[in-house]
Amino acid sequence: MRILIAGATGVIGRRLVPLLTQRGHHVTGLIRRPADAAKLDAHGAHAALADVYDTERLHYTVRQAAPDLVMHQLTDLGGGDRQANSAIRRTGTRNLVDAAQAAGVRKMIAQSIAWVYEPGTEPATEDTPLDLARDDSVRAVDMLEKTVSEIPEWVVLRYGLFYGPTTWYAPDGLMAGQARAGKLTANGDITSFLHIDDAAAAAVAALDWPSGPVNVCDDDPAPGTDWLPAFCASVGAPPPPRNTDRNPWARGADSTYARKHLDWTPVHPSWRSAFSRDHHEP
Ligand SMILES: NC(=O)c1ccc[n+]([C@@H]2O[C@H](COP(=O)([O-])OP(=O)(O)OC[C@H]3O[C@@H](n4cnc5c(N)ncnc54)[C@H](OP(=O)(O)O)[C@@H]3O)[C@@H](O)[C@H]2O)c1
Repeated sequence: MRILIAGATGVIGRRLVPLLTQRGHHVTGLIRRPADAAKLDAHGAHAALADVYDTERLHYTVRQAAPDLVMHQLTDLGGGDRQANSAIRRTGTRNLVDAAQAAGVRKMIAQSIAWVYEPGTEPATEDTPLDLARDDSVRAVDMLEKTVSEIPEWVVLRYGLFYGPTTWYAPDGLMAGQARAGKLTANGDITSFLHIDDAAAAAVAALDWPSGPVNVCDDDPAPGTDWLPAFCASVGAPPPPRNTDRNPWARGADSTYARKHLDWTPVHPSWRSAFSRDHHEP
């Protein structure tokens, strides 16, 4: 299959490129810096230079790549600017879908998140409405998902919170730094995690999944009072202060649909082994 990856240099894209070329797919990765072409070349993939906000160049690039499927793994989190990330979800997705439609693309798989659901006490399923009243970031996610669904076939991957090498929760990542600086408080907010390798594997599996949103999370949603002390210990940070506050929407997400109906099984069913003092990622 001919696949175009938007976000080929990101935390998921970097893992996806080799997974897809190893399976015999013809992969083109969208890049913004010519120097990144070598990273794709090393895995037998092609590079195409375009910024998702440069619509003329983007349309040309997608047409040239002539993909059957577009993998949308774009985010804009590097600068820690929530508005930039909402902009890429709205405008970046709009531009990518327009370019894909103009090039006759049949299917799109897109990265979304699993902590966008309405308040509740149980982990949310895909049928739980999105919490549009909460903030602009949830509304931008909703816009991303609706725009992607304009493509004839589409899968929206509602990922849990990534952990593992090169994520914010790696020992050298952003959150480990905040933990060591004593900036984090353990509260009752429930989080569903997802190992980054399971996230990449799910994007590959989704090539064969039917259209729809899918929660892709591990099996162990847990309150901050449970996971944060373990995380802090695993990265050499002091125990965090604790309280029992909980945002009602911080409820975790339920991946039963992916497990039962899509045959998806995470290799890492719980964050607990990684967030242990004795665990070292290879
Ligand atoms: N579910 C989750 O928990 C979740 C999801 C995503 C990310 N994160 C966290 O965020 C951290 C940073 O994510 P990341 O490494 O994926 O980086 P990122 O800076 O968010 O970028 C993601 C990808 O989008 C591309 N991109 C951004 N703006 C673009 C534009 N205007 N045009 C074309 N491409 C564009 C980037 O290309 P360039 O290389 O050119 O910038 C990159 O390939 C990760 O370490 C992870 O822990 C968490």
